[in-house]
This record gives sequence, C-alpha cells and structure tokens, in this order.
Amino acid sequence: MGNHLVKKNSINHDSNFHKLFSSYKLINENRVGFDEREHLGHALIRDIFKGNFSSPIQDILFDSDTNILDVGCGSGFWLMEMASDYQKPNYFGIDILPIFPEFTCPKRIKFRQGNFFKSRYEDNTFDFIHMQFLVCDFTVDQWENFVFQELARILKPGGWLEICDPEFKFENDGPASNKLNSAVCKNIRSKNGDPLIVHRHRSLIESIPSFSSSTLHHEKRKFPLCSLDNKELGELGGFHTKESCRNILQGPVGKDLNIKPKEIDSYLDKMSREFILSRSYFHVHRFYVQKSWEV
Ligand SMILES: C[S@@+](CC[C@H](N)C(=O)[O-])C[C@H]1O[C@@H](n2cnc3c(N)ncnc32)[C@H](O)[C@@H]1O
Repeated sequence: MGNHLVKKNSINHDSNFHKLFSSYKLINENRVGFDEREHLGHALIRDIFKGNFSSPIQDILFDSDTNILDVGCGSGFWLMEMASDYQKPNYFGIDILPIFPEFTCPKRIKFRQGNFFKSRYEDNTFDFIHMQFLVCDFTVDQWENFVFQELARILKPGGWLEICDPEFKFENDGPASNKLNSAVCKNIRSKNGDPLIVHRHRSLIESIPSFSSSTLHHEKRKFPLCSLDNKELGELGGFHTKESCRNILQGPVGKDLNIKPKEIDSYLDKMSREFILSRSYFHVHRFYVQKSWEV
C-alpha cells in the first residue's frame, strides 16, 4: 500500500484517541511513522483473527449493490484491503480526522471526514458495518445510549455488524507496563470513557431490539507481545505496542507519570524487557451480529 496524502482541511479538535496517543499536530509531523504503525496494527489484527472479518458475509461481497461502512476508519487500511480483495461492493469510511488517503485509493471507496455522532446516514443503508479500536474514543454515555442504537438504525435488515476492541490491561505484566497502563486507564476514565468497555459490549448489543433475537458471536484472542509465544506475531506485537506507548508517553500520560522526553527510551526498553521476561500479552475481542430481518 502506498503512501497516503493528508487532506488539507483544517480542524480545530482532536479525537480522544489522538489526544491520548498523539495530537493531530504530532501525527502530521511524523505522518509516515504514524501510517506505518497504523498499518502494522491493522495487519496484526488481521493475522490474529485470521482475516479482515469473521461475519458470514461471503455472498454479499460479490454484489455491486452491497454497501460497507468502516466507522473511525483512520488511515483506511482495512477499507483498502477489503476493496482490493472484493471489488464489487461500495465502500464508505468516516473518520473525524482527515487522515485517510485522498487520491491514492479506488473510486469505490468514499471517505468522509466527519463525526459519526453527527453523520446522519439514512436508515437501513449498510449491509456490513465494521468498527475497530474506537474503545477510548467514546464516553460510557455514548456507548450506552447512542453507538449501538445508531449502528442498528443504519444497518439494513439482515445486515451484519462487526466490532473489534482491545482490553486495556496487560496480562503477565511487569512494574513498568502496569504503571503505564494504569495511567492510560486513568486518563480514559477522566474523559468519561471506560478502558474495559469491551466487557460490556455483549450486554449493550443484546439490549438493542433489532439485535436481541440474533446470536451474538464473540471471538477472544491473545495479542502477543513476546516472540517466545509466537515468533513473528509476538515480535511485531511487542514492537507495535512499544511504539504506541512511545506516542502515549509523548502526550499527557507521560506528563502525569513525570517521565521526561529524554527518559522515554529507557522506560520503553524496560517495558520491552518485561514483555519478554513475563511473556506479556493483552486480549482483543471481536463481536459480530446480524440485524433482524423483521424491523
Ligand atoms: C484507534 S483509531 C482506529 C483506526 C482504525 N479503525 C484501525 O483499526 O486502525 C480510532 C479512530 O477513530 C476516529 N474517531 C474517533 N471518534 C470518532 C467519531 N466520533 N467519529 C468518527 N471517527 C472517530 C479517530 O480519529 C481514529 O482515527
């Protein structure tokens, strides 16, 4: 996948995710580094779940009337890969930040810069909606009262919703990774988010009438951080997490922990050693569910 061009629209706010990890200004200053990390994250999730999706949607992927939406599409790697693998459907991506490719993508992908909460897509528009890693972008109130209601509204009857999110908790952690994760969780909570909201996804989805009569499928996987557990995946998983943590330490969480810029490298090296010594990992979850035909 080629390099990506940033839209020139100016914006005056960042998403919670980008406030936590790095500001929009920081992203633009190191656009290539940011894209590479996003691409690696996308590829790791695809490999961990053995595919870009788990929903049984094979039959609609060869139909030019199929509409597929990626909410919070970021740099657009998932959409571009899907559009290259399945060339018939119409693809749509929405992200609050203008970080998706403007010129270097197939015409069948329509990117839109906008806030999902104000997007007002028509009722019953999409056959498949994908949403990945927006766990720290929404408040608990939004998760409880808007997100799944809105996704159900804009899905067609019989359409599929698939959502993938991590747990913000290192398993087999060490002191440095534990300390950083606690500070990240505190930061997310201070913005009325819940770093472990993924544990509520099942009950929130099942509370929506148009999902409640369908089976909710759930896959839980390890995201390895140590090559001893899974050679290539663990090595890259550890690297990706280390670089994400670098970003975090450059922002408000680094200040909260009183870690100075010149101390970041040694903190990260300590964390990387812990990942290997303790065989650390974290969990990622994928849920998928079909909207009832009778709505
Ligand atoms: C962690 S990134 C995930 C990107 C991509 N889904 C992936 O899996 O790599 C979260 C993305 O959601 C976007 N986002 C956050 N809040 C949003 C909102 N209210 N509407 C649209 N996009 C939003 C952020 O700008 C960011 O690009």
